[in-house]
Amino acid sequence: MTVTVVPSQQVLNPQLEIAGGRRLSGEVRVSGAKNSALVLMAASLLTEDTLRLRNVPPLTDIAGMGEILASLGVGVRRGSDSIEMDGSGLNQSAPPYELVNSLRASFFCIGPLLAKLGIARVPLPGGCQIGTRPVVEHVKGLKALGAQVTIEHGVVSAVVPGRGHRLKGGRIHLDCPSVGATETLMMAAALADGETVIENAALEPEVVDLAGLLIAMGARVRGAGTPTIRIVGVERLHGADYAVIPDRIEAGTLLLAAAITRSTLTVGPVITDHLGAVLTKLEEVGCRLDIDGTCVTISADQIRAVDLRTQPFPGFPTDLQAPFMSLLATAQGTSVITEHIFENRLQHVGELQRMGAAIRMQGNTAFIEGVHRLSGAPVKGSDLRASAAMVLAGLAADGITTVQGLEYLDRGYADLEGKLNAVGATIRRVG
Ligand code: EPU
Repeated sequence: MTVTVVPSQQVLNPQLEIAGGRRLSGEVRVSGAKNSALVLMAASLLTEDTLRLRNVPPLTDIAGMGEILASLGVGVRRGSDSIEMDGSGLNQSAPPYELVNSLRASFFCIGPLLAKLGIARVPLPGGCQIGTRPVVEHVKGLKALGAQVTIEHGVVSAVVPGRGHRLKGGRIHLDCPSVGATETLMMAAALADGETVIENAALEPEVVDLAGLLIAMGARVRGAGTPTIRIVGVERLHGADYAVIPDRIEAGTLLLAAAITRSTLTVGPVITDHLGAVLTKLEEVGCRLDIDGTCVTISADQIRAVDLRTQPFPGFPTDLQAPFMSLLATAQGTSVITEHIFENRLQHVGELQRMGAAIRMQGNTAFIEGVHRLSGAPVKGSDLRASAAMVLAGLAADGITTVQGLEYLDRGYADLEGKLNAVGATIRRVG
């Protein structure tokens, strides 16, 4: 018998080695939005027809959602940048814990499952690195649509009582404009009997994208992108062929890569309305932006300090807080960042400090005194966006930075190092 010995260091510990200090130039292409694609995939549970999504990014989270849908009986076929889902075989109402636990977004399946089958049993996904991530609003909304919901032994069991097991339209006021709750309830309401009104709904572009898909499938949805969404339920939804919006967070990360390396880079496609607060902050720190249709060319030279606080859309997105902090660590002057969305999303501060950043923390606020140069060091990203922040810091730092935590990075960025290397970065994946 031949035994192949694989060096365990390499297998268990993949990392990026970044040689810092390179200027970037050229054009980078933005992939489809992860957080849109994930929820649009869940919408395949609402129809027996085939749903085809285009501009789907090649990410481990997308593969994970595919596995969850397959576990429920959906036929999933992946193309190079598309995915086809055939809901005619849907025969399960309970995705397994192991799959839900490793992908929080899969909890959003509860809405369409309940709407289509009248029953759903979905494990609570639990917290993650960035916070506790409750689903109270999702559950409250499903109850308002007539579902009986119990939570026992870590599983949310929901059933629609009565003949036909059809949800009933209702009025829902969300206590906070949760993106996931808004999306869950939109999908549930799409097949309910009568009109549903969701008040204090999330305004995020991914919610508007979901409305676009549902309308393409025959749903009657109005008001997505405003605080009040109205959905008149229909009896049946059909298949559709639909393109996912560009990823605003990936676009923001790439613009920040140019800013932190004081470079000029063209990033697209971007829907600039999706990035309003971010583009404004980039201008405030001194970047020049040239917008041509769906392309943004950014040029950066000197970067000055700014203050920012994360907020629901159209405010500054929490998902770009960590990457923006890396930039501000190199700015002239002292910046203040306050994280308002997630209670534990400043874990990257300690790692940036290891690279020479001068940051002081007080509760959910970070005071960042810009330094002349960051210095390369081994660092680890604690979540997806913290990992991206480490990559950005590494691009600007003196010497070599090694970034661990790629299991997070690969969940949300399609070939980040390939894209950056194509415009002049020197990043090597080892292990
Ligand atoms: N919240 C509640 N109760 C609830 C639901 C949410 O208090 O029942 C609170 C959360 O604790 C948090 C805030 O509301 O403080 C926002 O949470 P939300 O539900 O809006 O977030 P989500 O739907 O779980 C999505 C994205 C996140 C992104 C947030 C905020 C997906 C799959 N995830 O999460 O993306 O940070 O919206 O914009 O769409 C990422 O991509 O790195 C990521 C974490």
